Amino acid sequence: MRHALTSARDRMSSSNVCGARLQSRRKWSELRAALAPDFSVRELSHGLATLLFRMAVCVLFLSAILAASAQNAAPVSGADVYQKRCSTCHDQAGNRAPSRDSLQKMPATRILRTLDFGLMMAIAYPMKREEREAVASYLGTPGGEPPPPASSFCASGIRPMAGSAKESWAGWSPSPSNTRYQTVEQAGLTMKQVRHLKLKWALGFPGDVTAFAAPTVLNGTLFVGSAGGAVQAVDAKTGCLHWVFQANGPVRAAILPSPFEMVQPTRWCLAI
Ligand code: HEC
Repeated sequence: MRHALTSARDRMSSSNVCGARLQSRRKWSELRAALAPDFSVRELSHGLATLLFRMAVCVLFLSAILAASAQNAAPVSGADVYQKRCSTCHDQAGNRAPSRDSLQKMPATRILRTLDFGLMMAIAYPMKREEREAVASYLGTPGGEPPPPASSFCASGIRPMAGSAKESWAGWSPSPSNTRYQTVEQAGLTMKQVRHLKLKWALGFPGDVTAFAAPTVLNGTLFVGSAGGAVQAVDAKTGCLHWVFQANGPVRAAILPSPFEMVQPTRWCLAI
């Protein structure tokens, strides 16, 4: 820039009288170019744009904070969430969805688990935490899920997996053939005897409206998971409970047992 200024001054001093007007016009434009080059104008507009951009970001940020705090201030209505997100399916008779009436018999904790990890996960995907909690407590019963009554547990004399390995059905069949079929010898039953069988015990899945996981039988103990995520270890002969484990989500497949220590008695690992 200093160079441009000096050269303009030099050329001004060398002007003669005849071409004075033409000269001075050219010199004026040269001088203006030298004194106020485009560069500084561009710099100024760039600075202004940056400032405006920063201000806009600040305004946006502040309004986002204000909007979030306004939302926090207003409690989420479970009835509204139900209307918006659930009623289309659960208020209609005749589809597979359980009615609002049956949802109202479920514990709120169970409904929340269905939204978080269960069958309604895909539906609940866009829902916020507060909306999930609000709709679960709007619909469901308070107080969580009651544990099974003490009377349903086995007497201390009945130990888990103390039965015969011959009675096991721990894969897709009692043998490694995966036929989903057992022979007369394996079953200890003939075809003719089947119709004389009588119900010995029944097992319920409290609060569930569906069941899909096949049971696994291993050394006289039946393991079964449920839609509500309860894994139950049941004595195959009497139907009494050895233990119950509550998983985070629905247990959709059969429990997979695997020996992890072949000492006597073998220690097992159960995968769900
Ligand atoms: C698009 C339809 C649809 C919408 C929307 C919907 N559901 Fe469902 N819901 C179903 C169906 C179908 C089932 C039964 C699924 C099955 O048995 O496989 C079901 C089952 C359930 C169950 C029982 C699950 C179990 O494990 O037994 C609960 C609880 C439930 N829904 C809650 C809700 C809530 C709360 C909402 C709203 C946030 C909702 N659903 C929205 C269709 C829907």
